[in-house]
Amino acid sequence: MNINSKIIDPTEKYKEVLSQAVYLLSDGNPVLTNLSNLAALLKRSFSKISWVGFYIAKGEKLFLGPFQGDVACETIDFGSGVCGVSAKKEETVVVENVHEFSGHIACDANTNSEIVVPIVVNGKVFAVLDLDSYDYAAFRETDKYYLEKIVEILKKNVTLEKFNLT
Ligand code: SME
Repeated sequence: MNINSKIIDPTEKYKEVLSQAVYLLSDGNPVLTNLSNLAALLKRSFSKISWVGFYIAKGEKLFLGPFQGDVACETIDFGSGVCGVSAKKEETVVVENVHEFSGHIACDANTNSEIVVPIVVNGKVFAVLDLDSYDYAAFRETDKYYLEKIVEILKKNVTLEKFNLT
């Protein structure tokens, strides 16, 4: 475990990321373009992230979307794994130790903690934002707070009609 994940307050870094996200996210782009750059922005901003990306909802299934990191599971059912539970409950799920999360889907056996934030548009889950770490307990209240803010910026900057990839 990297002890730094416990003592470094990521607030300042997240503030930078928020202002960069406002600048990067453009309504003139297809939503996939915005999601791709958002994944890259997060990955390069935090060394604790081993994988970051989006799973896009279609019916009751999630499909792998833009991401940064190693190859990953392509489909996840609503209710399965951390992503599926977040999509089903429509709430952020923070997992300090994925080995203790019943049903966790191990795309990468080295992952030890994870956070998943749902993107709910017009009362429907459009996608989830998934971040993994090789550190235990890498994601905390601060991460939840700012990642939810980033999702809000995405929803504010991109018109509703663009959130449709089906
Ligand atoms: N661990 C996730 C699956 C996606 S990968 O982490 C990229 C889950 O349990 O839903």
